[in-house]
Amino acid sequence: MDTMLPSTHTDTPEQSQPFSPFDPAIITTLENLIAPGGRARVSPYTESAQFQILFGDVPEPQRRHDSARRILEANEARIDALAQYWVNFSQQGKHFMQADYDSTDFRDMYLAYYCTTNVSKIQLSLLDLVRVAALKEAHLRVLDVGVGTGTTLLGLMDFFILWACVCDLYGASFPIQSLAFTGIDCSSGNLTYAKDMALAYATTLAQRAHGQASSPDPAESLLTHVEQWTGAACWHQHDLSQEPYQDEPVNLIFASNVLNELQRQQGSGGTHLKSLIANLPAGGAAIIIEPGAEKETRTLMAWRRQLIAGYPHIQPLGGCANDLSPEKLQACDCCWNARRESLHQTLLYARFRQTAAKYAEDKRALNNFENNLLSWSYALLQARDDAQLPAEINQITIETGQQWTKESPLHLAYIGSYRGKEKTVELSSSHKNGKIHETADEWIEFIKFCPAHYSGTRAVTLWRVNGAVIPPIRYGGRVTQLLILKGALSCG
Ligand SMILES: C[S@@+](CC[C@H](N)C(=O)[O-])C[C@H]1O[C@@H](n2cnc3c(N)ncnc32)[C@H](O)[C@@H]1O
Repeated sequence: MDTMLPSTHTDTPEQSQPFSPFDPAIITTLENLIAPGGRARVSPYTESAQFQILFGDVPEPQRRHDSARRILEANEARIDALAQYWVNFSQQGKHFMQADYDSTDFRDMYLAYYCTTNVSKIQLSLLDLVRVAALKEAHLRVLDVGVGTGTTLLGLMDFFILWACVCDLYGASFPIQSLAFTGIDCSSGNLTYAKDMALAYATTLAQRAHGQASSPDPAESLLTHVEQWTGAACWHQHDLSQEPYQDEPVNLIFASNVLNELQRQQGSGGTHLKSLIANLPAGGAAIIIEPGAEKETRTLMAWRRQLIAGYPHIQPLGGCANDLSPEKLQACDCCWNARRESLHQTLLYARFRQTAAKYAEDKRALNNFENNLLSWSYALLQARDDAQLPAEINQITIETGQQWTKESPLHLAYIGSYRGKEKTVELSSSHKNGKIHETADEWIEFIKFCPAHYSGTRAVTLWRVNGAVIPPIRYGGRVTQLLILKGALSCG
């Protein structure tokens, strides 16, 4: 069922130039709500739905913090059992198998732990789509492949609540008028679980909307519409490895943390996912998310290159490799461009990790600041018609070890940074040429850039000059001056 969302704003006559919903000011405000201070936050609606499913109780809206703590304390034994389950799962290599999904403990563990971080990854990826004005369809028909515990639905609906509120704040018209969501999964248990999560989330929205003043408040109307979109979601059992999915046409596809499972299974899941994306109408988009580990990241990037080589109307969006033809994108096949961001841990997530740390050492930060708890790789894709294909740019040629000067041609899209003591770049296990090795006495901050614009180059890694402070660079953001970076490590 589609329900239409009325515009929450009426332009006033004196407003000659209303804001576009894709205006940089709107995007910055939205970013500050999704990830204030650079730390992604999960909404109270999502958190309440998690509490409802895990503990059958939700925090009181007026005394959220105290009330949530009380519920967590009352359910200490359950959290302990789930944390132990996760520790065992991690120690066995975190292999997500269909047999795992049959266990209630596994699903509850997934909801408490992975769902929290994955919701944020969905939202930060959606923000990137908005940043390039790629979410323009007024009537969205969304397909989520591999629903798990309903992560995508939660991330998507929360994102639209925030975006609509920000549009309203700036007097911009919110572009999405209706949304029909379909989730598919091969596990009937996961579908039931995701549907229960969706209902718990919709109930939270309804309570919030009805708790507000009974004036024709735009926020109330918005929550009511998102609640209806959520309640109307459809859930279908389908094994994408075995059969392509053919149903109503869709214009926004998500496949979050499912491609690596499809590729481990017998069948043609990866190919069927490509066909789904290839069938998007012009303007339609897809978000494919994978873990940030080296193997999964490289596999995703190689899969993306094959996809755009096979279907030239599908274009990558976002920071890297979006203006080159697939034959110039060999560097993608071995690019470890995982994104890392920090998470403002919810009480549930923090309690889960503290409990798990009793059973196995957790080397990651327990603080709420630069904790880098989010690590993922992703592909943003859009179907375009011929007239919309971007002009191709020429690749730049550099030599291994070339020093960068102010005159060097620049095409640097930031894809991550790391610290080390050795100026060594291992480009890929099969590729040893051009390796530069120097040992330094001090820790060095290395900054990685998309290598695709450099002919025959598999990695572009520069390092920060000691004593200089680099301003924050957004993932995929372009660097336009190199006064504080030096060095180039490349490999042909
Ligand atoms: C790791 S979970 C990801 C859940 C969620 N999308 C997220 O990011 O948190 C992978 C999901 O994909 C589903 N899945 C795995 N293989 C599948 C297949 N061949 N067809 C459909 N769904 C599949 C699993 O049942 C599971 O629900």
